[in-house]
Amino acid sequence: MMDKAFFEGLSEEEARKKITELAGDYCELYHKRKEYKPGDHISYGGRFYDRREMENLVDSSLEFWLTAGRYVQEFEKKFAAWLGVKFCSTVNSGSSANLLAFMALTSPLLKERAIKPGDEVITVAAGFPTTVSPIVQYGAVPVFVDVTIPGYNIDAAKLEEAYSEGKTRAVMIAHTLGNPFDLSAVSAFCEKHGLWLVEDNCDALGSEYILNGKKVKTGTVGHIGTSSFYPPHHMTMGEGGAVYTDDPLLHRIVRSLRDWGRDCVCEPGQDNRCGHRYDGQYGQLPAGYDHKYVYSHLGYNLKITDMQAAVGVAQLEKIDSFTALRREHHAYLYEGLADLSDKLVLPVATANADPSWFGFMICCRDGVDRTRLVRHLEDAGVQTRMLFSGNLIKHPCFDHLRDAQGDKYRVAGSLENTDRIMQSGFWIGVYPGMTRSMMDVMIEEIHKGLQG
Ligand SMILES: Cc1ncc(COP(=O)(O)O)c(C=O)c1O
Repeated sequence: MMDKAFFEGLSEEEARKKITELAGDYCELYHKRKEYKPGDHISYGGRFYDRREMENLVDSSLEFWLTAGRYVQEFEKKFAAWLGVKFCSTVNSGSSANLLAFMALTSPLLKERAIKPGDEVITVAAGFPTTVSPIVQYGAVPVFVDVTIPGYNIDAAKLEEAYSEGKTRAVMIAHTLGNPFDLSAVSAFCEKHGLWLVEDNCDALGSEYILNGKKVKTGTVGHIGTSSFYPPHHMTMGEGGAVYTDDPLLHRIVRSLRDWGRDCVCEPGQDNRCGHRYDGQYGQLPAGYDHKYVYSHLGYNLKITDMQAAVGVAQLEKIDSFTALRREHHAYLYEGLADLSDKLVLPVATANADPSWFGFMICCRDGVDRTRLVRHLEDAGVQTRMLFSGNLIKHPCFDHLRDAQGDKYRVAGSLENTDRIMQSGFWIGVYPGMTRSMMDVMIEEIHKGLQG
């Protein structure tokens, strides 16, 4: 046990400061990034942090509020301001963010604009499953549109073909690996048909797009945007995510669904913020029923802890430098692989976009064996990733849905490029922790893997 004299004469605040400083020193000493040596494993992503994150984490744990508290409020405010949106709600993962974003659009508070079971939602199969799963789980019908190569986003030219009068209600898609989808075409399509647009921004934090002559951040154009703060993502809280919107009603619905479905907007631990706790009459409840326990939705509990947000606050201070490094690393890899363009399809940014890349996507051209190349890279210590599901509807989770095609899901046209990505695509990392020597090895090993 440490001698209590360590705290002698210190106020609680001073003692906490001393401990957090020590935690910062500990971080600098024991969490130093190891210098890369040839032969070391090169991961595709990972946490990138310093003493600030550790200090905030310890500060929050000493406060021991545990649930959402002052750090959550600070993070939500600063994150919304950084994005340029009015409202942000933190949640416990990017998947939860997608769940909330979609379920918000089914709220009865939206009246005739609410998505109902059986309604169609346009999306893609070449991506992460939890962009799509809330649609299926709710009983709406995902309509899969093919993507383009080498942008890896929805083929906007096929949107009209996927539209079904009276049935299509929304478009819910991700900005693939940081490359923005064609926001001009997709948002114009949504406006024309009065559709909701959900931007899964989990892999694209900090990506920019020129829309109608104005630079905007991805995630802020559609009605709702979502983020993930899982470690390999652009910034991290360990687990975590966010849902953001400019629409006060959608924000209210998201908050309600996130917080058990309640109608009340008090923060955790707070009572009677509105001053009308016992004044209202809701549903068929008796007049004056405690508003704290009035439920306007059948909701969830998807909140984060204050310790997660404390780490997020420190990460947010660095997000611009993180995105700059991701862009730099992507450009470096591109230059080093450019001579292989007869064997590999290299990634291309969408027109009018400045991606904050999540990864460096590659498609093997005909005659190049993806599995052989990926095996070579993994054996050489270069971590690789598939474009998540490749083609989601080929997975076992669709086995029981395939027979009911038309009812449970629909494919608009062919998924030729989606299948091609599933067969011949993979990606490597560009995260801020990468160094020139690591990227030189990645470039060299890709060249080697294509020989012979
Ligand atoms: C596009 C996309 N959406 C959603 C998610 C889910 O995020 P989480 O892992 O935080 O649930 C991911 C995960 O990487 C993703 O890539």
